[in-house]
Amino acid sequence: MHTLNPRVFVSGSKMTAALLCFLLAGPVLLVAGSPVYTSNNGTVPLVLWHGMGDSCCNPLSMGSIKKMIEEEISGVYVLSLMIGKNVVQDTENGFFMDVNEQVSAACSQLARDPELKGGYNAMGFSQGAQFLRAVAQRCPSPPMKNLISVGGQHQGVYGLPRCPGESSHICDMIRKALNSGAYTDLVQKHLVQAQYWHDPLNDDLYKKHSLFLADINQERVVNETYRKNLQLLEKFVMVKFLQDSVVDPVDTEWFGFLKSGQAKETETLQESALYKEVTVSQLVSLHCSLVFLLFS
Ligand SMILES: *[C@@H]1O[C@H](CO)[C@@H](O)[C@H](O)[C@H]1NC(C)=O
Ligand SMILES: *[C@@H]1O[C@H](CO)[C@@H](O)[C@H](O)[C@H]1NC(C)=O
Repeated sequence: MHTLNPRVFVSGSKMTAALLCFLLAGPVLLVAGSPVYTSNNGTVPLVLWHGMGDSCCNPLSMGSIKKMIEEEISGVYVLSLMIGKNVVQDTENGFFMDVNEQVSAACSQLARDPELKGGYNAMGFSQGAQFLRAVAQRCPSPPMKNLISVGGQHQGVYGLPRCPGESSHICDMIRKALNSGAYTDLVQKHLVQAQYWHDPLNDDLYKKHSLFLADINQERVVNETYRKNLQLLEKFVMVKFLQDSVVDPVDTEWFGFLKSGQAKETETLQESALYKEVTVSQLVSLHCSLVFLLFS
């Protein structure tokens, strides 16, 4: 639930290097085996999804990341998703548009794009990361090859401690709505953050009423299609910000969360019932530790 602070990104040269290493690893491996990726100078296209309070094309965030990647990887096609008809709508939709509808809109946009036919890598920032995971689970065509989640909230959030930039008045309003009833139909339908609100003290309400997160996290029924599609990813990389003051709890960025029934102790993905029972993916554990080493 934070927009990526571009200063952190650009000045964090270690982080930039690490992310580029993931992006670059793809094309190098592919050149040998697969003639499908001959367009774009042999590179795999990249799809970006921005975070809350941000837009596809903000020159200080997504715009500069797109530009940086285009400069680093010669010929690469980068699509920064815009949900809505313009930048203003895109930003508003990040607060108020039904997430399932946003994911379908993204899926059709990806399916229509001739540049993506042979597959693509995806990189989501903050809430954009869990939205892209939903794309991977629901829309296997065109194929997503690698998913990089930068500060994503894969187990949702329980708290909204701080809001990025100029959106703080919107966040005050959102906080009120969440407190008054995150799982009521009205709030669920119209508030993006309610759709990944995860109240550990009201697990049953969450499982029953969360329109988005409980569905993609297989809390109500196990959808074999979701499992199968997620495992089609070559790599699922989750980047956690060790000093994040926007996301609560920060463990969610590595798919951990608060233990059910209380709001203090956390558990890792591997300790969670979700992992033990549903096997989110064996793909994650190795890469978590790798990323942790690179960023600490
Ligand atoms: C293709 O990649 C090579 C090597 O990275 C680079 O020198 C060349 O300029 C690129 N061509 C295009 C059209 O981007
Ligand atoms: C499982 O997911 C697929 C893809 O989104 C969907 O078409 C199907 O209806 C889902 N099945 C269940 C039981 O939810």
